[in-house]
Amino acid sequence: MSELVFASSNAHKVDEVRTILGLDKTQLLSLKDINWLEEIEETGSTLTENALIKSRTIADAKKINVFSDDSGLEVEALNMAPGVYTARYAGPQKDATDNMNKLLNALDGETNRKARFRAVVALVLDDEEHIFEGIVNGRIALEKKGNGGFGYDPIFIPDGYDKSFAELPESVKNKMSHRSRAVDKMRRFLESRNG
Ligand code: IMP
Repeated sequence: MSELVFASSNAHKVDEVRTILGLDKTQLLSLKDINWLEEIEETGSTLTENALIKSRTIADAKKINVFSDDSGLEVEALNMAPGVYTARYAGPQKDATDNMNKLLNALDGETNRKARFRAVVALVLDDEEHIFEGIVNGRIALEKKGNGGFGYDPIFIPDGYDKSFAELPESVKNKMSHRSRAVDKMRRFLESRNG
């Protein structure tokens, strides 16, 4: 397959996705590799819209195959909030500790702690759009635990475990994460197209 761009400038994410897709540095390019410096505003009202905005903007400007991901945390007792607002839940500073504290306060005294991370990957391939979704179900802990990971990891306990994402080894989290599930679906799709 010809070059594919992952619309991310997060080197860590790009490496993780290269591994899942089994592609090397010449086959899967990051935004840095294509000299894309411009910030693309996420103005959509759903994860899918935001992921598509990113992929479309880059595909149209650079005439390349590209995919983007957008993810969020959906909490059942809060009608699936913060969802598309996950990164900026406690304000535009996008601070992980502020976000977690706000969520723990919102769930104070709430016994239904069910939550899920959902990732949407939007691929523009030969000008056609394809969407892949990945979900990891779990619950919101009563307090923060662990030092690993990022974002809401210290308060998210995946189903089947009694440790938060921030306490689990990165390799365990990455195998079951919403992002890896969505990217793995795209991998299977790409493999089926390439015969
Ligand atoms: P993004 O679309 O991957 O940038 O994710 C949006 C926001 O969701 C991030 O800023 C994090 O707060 C949160 N988030 C996404 N994925 C994870 C994860 O794997 N662990 C913890 N928080 C996450």
